[in-house]
Formats: sequence, structure tokens, C-alpha cells
Amino acid sequence: LSELTKGRCPVNFPVAVVLPAAGSGERTGLSTPKQFCKILGRPLISYTIHAFERVFWIDSIVVVVAKESHDLMTDIIQKYNHTKVKIVEGGSTRHRSIFNGLLAFSEQGFGPKLQKPKVVIIHDAVRPFLEEDFLLKITLAANKQGASGAVRPLVSTVVAATTGGYLDHSLERARYRASEMPQGFIYDIIYQAYQHCSEAEFKFGTECLELALQHCGTSAVLIEGPSSLWKVTHKQDLASAEAVIKESLSQS
Ligand code: CTP
Ligand code: MG
Repeated sequence: LSELTKGRCPVNFPVAVVLPAAGSGERTGLSTPKQFCKILGRPLISYTIHAFERVFWIDSIVVVVAKESHDLMTDIIQKYNHTKVKIVEGGSTRHRSIFNGLLAFSEQGFGPKLQKPKVVIIHDAVRPFLEEDFLLKITLAANKQGASGAVRPLVSTVVAATTGGYLDHSLERARYRASEMPQGFIYDIIYQAYQHCSEAEFKFGTECLELALQHCGTSAVLIEGPSSLWKVTHKQDLASAEAVIKESLSQS
């Protein structure tokens, strides 16, 4: 970080964050959505929020939660004193939830009316391990190029399957990347991209960077991130996250 900032404020434009957290976490098989599962007594989402709140050049954080989680989220914000956070209601898909979050900064939005940022960072609430230096890289690249996203080299080869479950073809592994989070965007670009999003894209799409390309012609810079950006997906990932947090507590 020191190399990038050299003691000055590294960012001279408003930056906000949208944290989609309105999923039900089906793959964990647990009744509590994973973002609210407790790790060492504290809900997972609170660790993620903290990772952003400690970055002084980030102005506001919109957390997007399902209607039934609104009160729980309010309690978490109070208990852990999350001062930069506003709550917005989620949608039926991740894309819908993200768009609802973006609307909080727009004239057309319902709910809290927040100052429109120049750059917005989108990040999953269930990826709690992120560092300021990587957030800065994503933010500066988004400001310069319009869109940026974290990627990782593929561990496994991707194969396309037929509907019957047979191999159709495989992809050349070296050419492909796993798209992780966070991603950064010029706010106006990603907002416009979502405004032009089709029903099918809202329902089946999983890639915000692609929306910016398809609807605004903005090609995102892909930045290789650290392996710590992994997403809590399955039940055993909660135990892994606990181990990482314990380890970092023992070092501090
Ligand atoms: N998300 C959201 N709104 C939805 C669906 C997902 O805000 N309608 C959020 C999740 O809460 C999570 C992030 O998007 O923070 C990444 O999604 P994923 O890992 O797929 O979480 P879930 O959809 O909750 O899990 P699953 O797919 O196993 O049900
Ligand atoms: Mg999901």
C-alpha cells in the first residue's frame, strides 16, 4: 500500500460499496443464510463490512438484504457500530439485489438517498478477507478504465456438458480465469448497464463485468487477486473462515 499511496490520500473522488447479502445460501444446507452465520460469535457479514469500514477513503456501504433479514441486519449494525452502512432490500437474483443497491445512489431509487459516488465497488458479503491495497488497485483501475475485477488462475479445467451429462468440449485452461470479487465500476457505467439489462440477464446472468461490456461497451481490466478472496459457499467453508480469523487474531 505504501508504494501506491506514499503517505497521501490515494483516492481523490467519492467511492461507495454495494454488498449483496440477500441470498439464502442453499449450498450450505443450513437454515441460516451464510452471511449471518456466526464465526467466533460474530456474524460473517460483520467481518466483511469491517474490512471496508477501516478504509478511510470509502465513504458509504450499502448492504442489500432480504426483507426478512432487515431487523437482524439493523441489530448487527448497532451491535458492531458499523457507522458507514445503509440497508437496502434485496431481489430475487443476485443481479436484482445489486441493482437495488445501486439505486440507493440514484434519483429513481427508493429507500436511503446517498451521495452518488464516482466509483462503486461491488463485493459479495460472504468474502470477508480483503485488504486495502487490493481495494485500491481495483478502485484506481475502475476509475481509469471504467470497470475492473478480481480474477484467479483456474485450478481445474472447465468442461461444457451436454444436457444428458456427457462431455461436449473443454476450454483451454490457460486462456480462462475464475472471476472473483471485488469488482469496481464508474458508477454511471454500471448503473446504465443494469438499466438496460434484460429479464433473462437479470435471471440467469452471473457476471457484472459482462453487463458493462454488453450494454456500455466498457471492457473491464482483470486484476489477479490474492487467494484470500475465496467465497464462503459450503458448510465447511465456515470452519475454514473461522480458522483464518483465529490465525489472524493470534498474530495481532
Ligand atoms: N445474493 C443476493 N441476492 C440474491 C442472491 C444472492 O444478494 N438474490 C448475494 C448472496 O447473499 C452472496 C452473494 O450474492 O453474498 C454471492 O452469491 P452466492 O454465493 O451464490 O450466495 P447464495 O445465493 O446465498 O448461496 P447459494 O447460491 O448457495 O444459494
Ligand atoms: Mg447463489
